[in-house]
Amino acid sequence: MSDLLARDRRVFWHPCTQMTDHDLVPPIEVVGAEGIHLHLADGRSLIDGISSWWCKSLGHRHPRLIRALTDQAGRFEHVIAANTVQEPTVRLCERLLALHPGRWGRVFLAGDGSTGIEIALKMAVQWQRQRGQTGRTRFAGLEDGYHGETIATMSVSDCGVFRAPFQDLCFDATVLTGLPRRSGPEDPRWLDASAEWPAIERQLAAIAPTLAGVVVEPVLQGAGGMRLVSPDLLRRMAAWCRAHGVLLIADEIAAGSGRCGAWLASSLGGDEALPDLAVLSKGLTGGVLPLCAVLIPEAIAQAFEAPWIAGRAFLHSNTYTGHALACAVANEVLSVYEDEDILGRVARHGPRLRQGLASLDSPHLNAVRGVGMMAAADLVRADGTPFPRERRTGWRCFQAALRRGALLRSLGDTVYLLPPLITEPGDQDRLLAILAESVAEVVRD
Ligand SMILES: Cc1ncc(COP(=O)(O)O)c(C=O)c1O
Repeated sequence: MSDLLARDRRVFWHPCTQMTDHDLVPPIEVVGAEGIHLHLADGRSLIDGISSWWCKSLGHRHPRLIRALTDQAGRFEHVIAANTVQEPTVRLCERLLALHPGRWGRVFLAGDGSTGIEIALKMAVQWQRQRGQTGRTRFAGLEDGYHGETIATMSVSDCGVFRAPFQDLCFDATVLTGLPRRSGPEDPRWLDASAEWPAIERQLAAIAPTLAGVVVEPVLQGAGGMRLVSPDLLRRMAAWCRAHGVLLIADEIAAGSGRCGAWLASSLGGDEALPDLAVLSKGLTGGVLPLCAVLIPEAIAQAFEAPWIAGRAFLHSNTYTGHALACAVANEVLSVYEDEDILGRVARHGPRLRQGLASLDSPHLNAVRGVGMMAAADLVRADGTPFPRERRTGWRCFQAALRRGALLRSLGDTVYLLPPLITEPGDQDRLLAILAESVAEVVRD
């Protein structure tokens, strides 16, 4: 074991990791990164096939993002956002709002994605209270939904493994079941959730008067297993929420910033599917710095404006709200998306991933699905049944892919390709080949 690995094992607690796994298979030592590649201490390179937990939309060290970062650092890097006006912040808010003119009027900024969802939940409850709806404090979320790691975001999530030890701390929220699962845009019922909607509507109707908001990952449910739901669900939910005084909160943290082929995944269901509050993070800064943005309709923002003594202000404060470096980088991300036609590239090259995965035609890859620059499948035995959990097939597939030159961290036994949006067809094919070889290796024994 190298000196650095030994020091790491002693002092650093890796996220979302059983640390004893590192005694079996040491973590990889990264010494550089560029574009879609990670460079390792042993001289090898890996394709970052999961965009470093789904955030590196433009790959690593995009020269324009690095320049925006260093230019801003030469002026000021962070100044308290209360009581100050900062040009990168104002410009970012204006540009985010201009992407859907008239739909939203204000932007609240903070650090990571979980915080963005917390902000949206708090804002929904306070908004309901300030319009006299004090009984509306409940939230509903989707089956297999994931919204972050804080107590409140876990409460509105449905990912048992992450939440089990903290169950007693979580507040009660409704989990909507019977979702319109689809395989992707080629699915004939992609834009049609009519079969499933009546049962979902009944679940909502039962709790309607107590609801402050409904929280959804639009189209792509990430941590819950890279599952896809019909964009038509969003359209129906948005109409239902409007009719019942409930706020629809779209968690665009993983699905947005172009991952599903549009800046907001919600918009795949048309303008009517746009939520009340939309939360962006991850790809918003191209994964350079933590930043989340909550997009808020002007009418909701107005409900918080009153003379100071009325006590209607939203008193949420995070130290790094409106961080100037993050805002400067996010502004440049928006420019790069325009100049390099990133959404056009996703439209042209994205289907290659899901078609490629489907054409592997492996009995061990079940429920192949994909949208935008993402494709996934579930590892199963040849007879279609799941592998025993203790076999850790997905984890072994991840290790097999590392040996072949790709970082493809699995979600349990779900394998997926979610590379930077700039990934070229040749590299997509390489990822598909590595995945195919890795699956073949780990299902054999
Ligand atoms: C859909 C979704 N919501 C929220 C989060 C939490 O974001 P963060 O890890 O930045 O707190 C994630 C992170 O993976 C996510 O995928």
